[in-house]
Amino acid sequence: MSSRRLLDLFCGAGGAAMGYYWAGFEVVGVDIKPQPHYPFVVFQGDALEFLGDRDWLRGFDAIHASPPCQRYTTLGTREDLSAYPDLMAPTRAFLEASGLPWVIENVPGAPMRPDAVLCGNSFGLRVYRHRLFECSFPVTGPAHRKHLMRVNRRGENRLRHWQEGGFLTVTGDIGSYAGVAMGIDWMNGNELSQAIPPAYTEFIGKQLIKVDRTSDMRYLEAAYKEQHRHLSLAEIAERQK
Ligand SMILES: C[S@@+](CC[C@H](N)C(=O)[O-])C[C@H]1O[C@@H](n2cnc3c(N)ncnc32)[C@H](O)[C@@H]1O
Repeated sequence: MSSRRLLDLFCGAGGAAMGYYWAGFEVVGVDIKPQPHYPFVVFQGDALEFLGDRDWLRGFDAIHASPPCQRYTTLGTREDLSAYPDLMAPTRAFLEASGLPWVIENVPGAPMRPDAVLCGNSFGLRVYRHRLFECSFPVTGPAHRKHLMRVNRRGENRLRHWQEGGFLTVTGDIGSYAGVAMGIDWMNGNELSQAIPPAYTEFIGKQLIKVDRTSDMRYLEAAYKEQHRHLSLAEIAERQK
């Protein structure tokens, strides 16, 4: 079986990427900043430009996008969040037009459909890190598990709390030890604070890899429009007679 290739947009240092790799995808990343620790092939540039390039997209079977979340995060409510870009709507519009199966990931509060809400606790990780996933295909579970363990309090020594068996909040430039909590051993503390545990995208990726793009109606519709993009509706109707 030939391998399926996934385009990982807004890729950061590759938390999402690694999960898709574990699920069986070959992964290619795009980020606006250099990502020297990204574990796969990575291109530097604006994700929306790559997403708008139909020729480039022909090399892929699926797309994942993690647009910047600062605009939607509840952590900075006293800050003026309007200074941060709102890339969710343009990203979704391009994904829908791509005809490929896609996944958007972001924080609670982001303007998206929560087809799956994943938490580290469901994967045996010591982090309560909720992330929403909107998918162009049906996804199921896993059930959310109640938070029974205490997370580190503000100002508390996080490393000690972790060493004593506690759960972590992964924000700010946390030390790279927090990678163990996330299932990541190749990032520095800053990169970790932006990443998601690969277990989340491994879970989504195992469902995504079963989506047969040729039976996906959206794919067929986009392929049809592409084929006829230089013709008017009247001309298309004429040809179908
Ligand atoms: C939340 S992080 C992604 C984390 C990643 N999914 C992971 O799990 O490790 C969002 C990333 O989007 C990148 N970014 C912001 N604007 C961008 C743009 N217009 N095009 C491409 N990347 C962009 C940032 O540099 C940042 O690395």
